Amino acid sequence: MSNPKVVVVGAGVVGLSAAYILAQKGYKVVVISEYLPNDSYKAPEYTSLWAGAHFRPFPSNSESDVRESNYTRETLKFFKKLSTEHPESTIQFVKGSDWVEAPSDGYKNLDFNYYKDLDNFKVVTGDSSLPKGVNFAASYTTWVINAPLYLQFLFMQLRDHLGVSFIKRRLNSLKEAEQLSGAKYIVNATAFGLQYESGYDPLTYPIRGQILLLKIPSDNRYRNETVTHQGADGNWTYVINRPFDGGCVLGGTKQIGDRDPVPRESEVKAIKDRARTLFPELFVKETENGEKDIDIIKSYVGFRPARKGGSRVDVEKFGSKVIAHAYGIGGMGYESSYGMALHAIKLLEDAITSQSKL
Ligand SMILES: Cc1cc2nc3c(=O)[nH]c(=O)nc-3n(C[C@H](O)[C@H](O)[C@H](O)COP(=O)(O)OP(=O)(O)OC[C@H]3O[C@@H](n4cnc5c(N)ncnc54)[C@H](O)[C@@H]3O)c2cc1C
Ligand SMILES: *[C@@H]1O[C@H](CO)[C@@H](O)[C@H](O)[C@H]1NC(C)=O
Ligand SMILES: *[C@@H]1O[C@H](CO)[C@@H](O)[C@H](O)[C@H]1NC(C)=O
Ligand SMILES: *[C@@H]1O[C@H](CO)[C@@H](O)[C@H](O)[C@H]1NC(C)=O
Ligand SMILES: *[C@@H]1O[C@H](CO)[C@@H](O)[C@H](O)[C@H]1NC(C)=O
Ligand SMILES: *[C@@H]1O[C@H](CO)[C@@H](O)[C@H](O)[C@H]1NC(C)=O
Repeated sequence: MSNPKVVVVGAGVVGLSAAYILAQKGYKVVVISEYLPNDSYKAPEYTSLWAGAHFRPFPSNSESDVRESNYTRETLKFFKKLSTEHPESTIQFVKGSDWVEAPSDGYKNLDFNYYKDLDNFKVVTGDSSLPKGVNFAASYTTWVINAPLYLQFLFMQLRDHLGVSFIKRRLNSLKEAEQLSGAKYIVNATAFGLQYESGYDPLTYPIRGQILLLKIPSDNRYRNETVTHQGADGNWTYVINRPFDGGCVLGGTKQIGDRDPVPRESEVKAIKDRARTLFPELFVKETENGEKDIDIIKSYVGFRPARKGGSRVDVEKFGSKVIAHAYGIGGMGYESSYGMALHAIKLLEDAITSQSKL
């Protein structure tokens, strides 16, 4: 059987990664999506535009954590290769640091899924320069990426080198994807899980993230280090430089179920107040009264596509049609992107093979 046509619904980092793998395997690929990386309108709902983005490993507390941790390692392997073959993918390897105030057992007992496959992993002890209240610290080599430029990179590879076609369209159901493309095989990478008949997966929900984009000088410490501080009060404060002069992300908020796309001044202030003690090196701007301040380019908001029970990667058959799902990855879409897409495509191919044997 010659390689059939697959339609990928969604052009976020997950859908584009799936299209990339499928096209390299020789499938005819059509991507249908309401938003595309070359749109001049930058939609708040197009989450992949707004990510930090870095890879921050974590201890696993559930079966879906273990599966997703595996996705991050597949992505890490792929990014190592991509960063040398295609520097314009913007991937940069830097020092990663975790500063945790109230570490869970997974940190304290060094869960294997936290540190596996990481280069230069070490628990940091006796560093007097760490902020007060940090009770667990570790560092390792990780990557940062310029999220919007990486989407552009994948888009241009797909369209200009791998023969993938794109249709810009908002769909009301996955059934329409099938009608528009004529493909029997569908990848559901719509973030919130567009359903076959209409609507979205009721298990999905947004987690609002407001962040600041800062200007920092080229010799700043945080050009080469990404840090996540996990406060005992539940607030996370993090610095992620965006390579290729994309500014430096200072985050952030995590507001479950909040769909307000407008940045709030009160949150700008709260993030800045936390950063003043945690990341004083970011305060590089002299104010009129001789004080130091951060240099804000702008503040913006994105919506992490979370799902109760974890991301959904599986396959369903409807007669001769096969649908592979890859959505609901929450705050981990970049670090999981390639591994998650690989898994979905493996399931899709297994289903196609078992069908063709009938
Ligand atoms: C502030 C912030 C910081 C983050 N930091 C990180 C980080 O450091 N590392 C990390 O790994 N992740 C991070 N994330 C998470 C990451 O951004 C997401 O997990 C990821 O972008 C999800 O990708 P996706 O492809 O599933 O969804 P999306 O990017 O939302 O893509 C969904 C696609 O589906 C299309 N679509 C949806 N419905 C329809 C429809 N009905 N018809 C047609 N098309 C449709 C959309 O147009 C879009 O193209 C962060 C997120 C936020 C908000
Ligand atoms: C973006 O790319 C699509 C697919 O190639 C194309 O149809 C569309 O015209 C492009 N949009 C812009 C604004 O260039
Ligand atoms: C896409 O995801 C939704 C959410 O679970 C699911 O209900 C739906 O069935 C999926 N689409 C298809 C065509 O199965
Ligand atoms: C960042 O790392 C690069 C390469 O290791 C080094 O040349 C550069 O001086 C570092 N910059 C800063 C600000 O530490
Ligand atoms: C995080 O900080 C904000 C502002 O400083 C505060 O209002 C909020 O209660 C904190 N979050 C948690 C979970 O404590
Ligand atoms: C991790 O994911 C890859 C890709 O889907 C798969 O081949 C591999 O078997 C997985 N490993 C584990 C331990 O689950």
